[in-house]
Amino acid sequence: MVFQDATAFIFNNKGMSSSMSTKNATTSGWKAGDRSPKIWKGKLTFIMAAAGSAVGLGNLWKFPYIAGENGGGAFVLVYLAFILCFGIPLLAAEIGIGRSTRKNAYSAFDSLAEKTGANKHWKKVGGLAISTSYLILSFYTVVAGWCLYYFYISATGRFNDPAQSFDKSFTSGIFEALLASPISLIIFSTIFLGMTYAIVTSGVVKGIEKTINWLMPSMMLMLTVLIGYSAAVGDFDAAVEFLFMPDFSKLTLDSIIIALGHSFFTLSLASAAMITYGSYMPTDNSIPKTAFAVAGVDILVALTAGLAIFPLVFKYGLEPGAGPGLMFISLPLIFNDMPYGQLFGSAFFFMMFIAALTSAISLMEPTVAWLEQRFNWTRNKSAALTTLSLWVVSLGTVLSLNEWDSPIFFGKTLFDALDYLTANVFMTAGALATAIFCGFCLKQEQLEVMFGKGSLAIPSFKFTMRYLAPLFVATLTLASI
Ligand code: TRP
Repeated sequence: MVFQDATAFIFNNKGMSSSMSTKNATTSGWKAGDRSPKIWKGKLTFIMAAAGSAVGLGNLWKFPYIAGENGGGAFVLVYLAFILCFGIPLLAAEIGIGRSTRKNAYSAFDSLAEKTGANKHWKKVGGLAISTSYLILSFYTVVAGWCLYYFYISATGRFNDPAQSFDKSFTSGIFEALLASPISLIIFSTIFLGMTYAIVTSGVVKGIEKTINWLMPSMMLMLTVLIGYSAAVGDFDAAVEFLFMPDFSKLTLDSIIIALGHSFFTLSLASAAMITYGSYMPTDNSIPKTAFAVAGVDILVALTAGLAIFPLVFKYGLEPGAGPGLMFISLPLIFNDMPYGQLFGSAFFFMMFIAALTSAISLMEPTVAWLEQRFNWTRNKSAALTTLSLWVVSLGTVLSLNEWDSPIFFGKTLFDALDYLTANVFMTAGALATAIFCGFCLKQEQLEVMFGKGSLAIPSFKFTMRYLAPLFVATLTLASI
């Protein structure tokens, strides 16, 4: 009874006049604890929105280069195992926490802790998760700005200038010049942040749902075309062997830890996004099935990105372990040489930009939802303040790439420190805490609200949350220290 869902109420109010739904009902019209009028309308929207959050620069930019750096096949296998064993259960947990409370991450933990008689400090886990998404966005927008800049220069033919002698010093020169120019970085990341703001401020259904519903299919379509082209032009067999033939001698403790961290990062876990999106999920969507579907899309895109990039890398004799520069320094070398390189190059960076945009929306939403509910602010005000403050923080990130390029936190620049802190400290701690909370604090009653009465998922979920995930995450964290 306590967990009675609001969806029936929501569905009955579908016909609400639009002025009311934007101005009053979605914002100041309800306080934390009230029934939220924000529920996705389409049956597939949650999957698309959550997959849009999960599929991002982590899949297209980070996964190929960390797979390359860590030896390929064996790393990919470990990463898949982590997603299956821990990623999917944790994803289901976060969606469930959101949907059963219909609140922002902070209040969701707060209200569940209250209902189960758990310690009231659990709400801090929600607070940590919201801060994590906020901090990730402060550097995510800068990297997304790079994609936008690269789209611009590939579309305008910078990588296809016949008069230009093409080698690595030329493409790395372009990348270094970009990083050295605060103005360019600020312009492109500001455009990106502005677009994210415009979508988020328009509302959960009118802004996010509407945009995601066409952005995600376009992105998947582009990726499919790109992989087909790359398979035709490049050395596909070598790429398949590299990604799928495990060589366990190349696996180190370090690569296992990287695989674990990335399995959380790629599913947008421990950063409040899935809890917040879960709070907009209709009650008749199955949580376990949805979690599998979202993780499935996420894995598919990561592997497809690998299969679109590595055939070209091998064909043109580039280094698969080239690190973060793989996308921005190595790949442009190819665009010059390959047939239709200008088109391929700009399509590639445009696709990265869309993927980053759908993730950024879900990185902004947790803070906006929290501000709206905590202070009873309108959506416009919450989104505007979030964006403005993020813009200021992102200036710090931008400057740490050039003017302030000196170690300020534990030998790292601000950019590297934010990346390291969120991905390796906050997300691991948040995932660990979420697992313990679900394993020990939630009662059968809450688990039934999440998974359905008599669901077979409950016992294995409980076991994973109680023992498997905490033991594994804690052991690996200790080993890494
Ligand atoms: N999953 C995103 C990616 O692969 C990155 C990410 C981490 C994220 N946490 C998030 C995105 C929270 C949105 C919300 O690029």
